[in-house]
Amino acid sequence: MARSTSRFVCQTCGDAFLRWEGQCRSCDAWNSLVETVVRASPAGSRSSGRAAGPVSDRAVALADIGETDVPRWPTGLGELDRVLGGGIVPGSVVLVGGEPGIGKSTLLLQVAAGIGGEVLYATGEESAPQVRMRAARLGLLDGPSGASIAVLAEHDIGRIVEQARLTRPALVVVDSIQTATVDELDGAAGSVGQVREATVRLMDLAKGEGIAVILVGHVTKDGSIAGPKTMEHLVDAVVAIEGERYAALRIVRAAKNRFGSTDEVGVFEMAAQGLMEIADPARAFLAEQADAAPGRVVAPILEGSRPLLVEVQALVAPAGYGTPARRASGIDPNRLSLLIAVLGRRAGIALGTFDVYANLAGGLSVGEPGLDLPLAIALASSLRDRPLAADTVVIGEVGLLGELRVVAGLDRRLKEAARLGFGRAIVPRASRGNPHTEVSGLAIDQVATLREAVAAALDPTDTHRGTVPAMLG
Ligand code: TYD
Ligand code: MG
Repeated sequence: MARSTSRFVCQTCGDAFLRWEGQCRSCDAWNSLVETVVRASPAGSRSSGRAAGPVSDRAVALADIGETDVPRWPTGLGELDRVLGGGIVPGSVVLVGGEPGIGKSTLLLQVAAGIGGEVLYATGEESAPQVRMRAARLGLLDGPSGASIAVLAEHDIGRIVEQARLTRPALVVVDSIQTATVDELDGAAGSVGQVREATVRLMDLAKGEGIAVILVGHVTKDGSIAGPKTMEHLVDAVVAIEGERYAALRIVRAAKNRFGSTDEVGVFEMAAQGLMEIADPARAFLAEQADAAPGRVVAPILEGSRPLLVEVQALVAPAGYGTPARRASGIDPNRLSLLIAVLGRRAGIALGTFDVYANLAGGLSVGEPGLDLPLAIALASSLRDRPLAADTVVIGEVGLLGELRVVAGLDRRLKEAARLGFGRAIVPRASRGNPHTEVSGLAIDQVATLREAVAAALDPTDTHRGTVPAMLG
């Protein structure tokens, strides 16, 4: 017999308490506890929160544990498999987050078709005919997926789980966790208590039956997945789809992955027939025409183990009256402010009376420190209205004193730049701990300070074109 109890669930962190209190003991939020009726779930359902796989009764010596490879189902999308670590693990729960309209439903319908098994696609956001329309657009209706994907327009988790236990598909997709409701619980769909409990029940389904579950999660304005943080702790992997809604490129990356690294990114393009894998992601974020222009600098960044060439763009224009504008998109605005200050004090590039705009081409968002130097050079290039040679790449971190620091994986970045036809690189001077890098076909300028870097980039008479790195070190 199910028994009703009452819990007080914090709407900020999702922790539950037996008694009401003015302040949540877990996250210190005030007035965030809301009474929630909980009916104990039927006996037999196991507590969740563990990784996939059988839970053993006894502890086993490390050396005695049999070696088993985690089985994986390829999704049919190589770029996504790369992010997941080789495919979807049976019995695992994956949360896919992203802004509205970014392509979550599209991606998951493609996965449902690509996995090559029975799939239950539960949607609380769209009607079954809407899902059919999308499937038609993706060209999935006539193939085998027309029969292997079962669509259930339903938001009640109880009924979704019931259906899954009945039909035992390989994969259950729930689009989305914010529209899912647990009947026994008070509170509207999307409230912290609902989202948390719905996730826990789907975890039980996944672990108990060995069914893989993919949850769609909406993202709030600040970019985090809406709902309690605990949801992200519960699931096995959190995958984010990023990009600009009105641009075509999409980056898929894992924020958490119990079955693989969180280093890999996948690059897709939203096309008329859904998300397409990009053949050569390294150059995907470079603008089409690669003419030299003031304020444009190409940087070889590293996303996990994958080198990408991105275009940093800066525009510097005389400010009107008032505080000059500082706008950054895809770049940390604090980093931009700091570089403006360092350029002014350490390199004689005074931007105090100028409006400054900076962004990355292609809607990419990058946090790595190696972007400092290309950004600083782009600012200087725009101010002086002098372009960089189009075949040059720049990478390096800038310190407060105007000194430069080498970035990790320089070798791999520069090799990729050379492969894509770049002929020259401006990088921080190698220190004792960081030996020189030599890449065939690439002239490498090593500079010690921001001032030197600006000179090497913008002063054609002062370049070291063709010199070998050993002579500069
Ligand atoms: P969708 O998957 O519905 O986004 P989400 O579930 O994250 O809200 O995709 C939204 C956008 O993608 C929509 O504006 C239309 C576009 N789109 C394409 O460009 N090509 C396609 O083949 C499909 C299915 C969608
Ligand atoms: Mg959707």
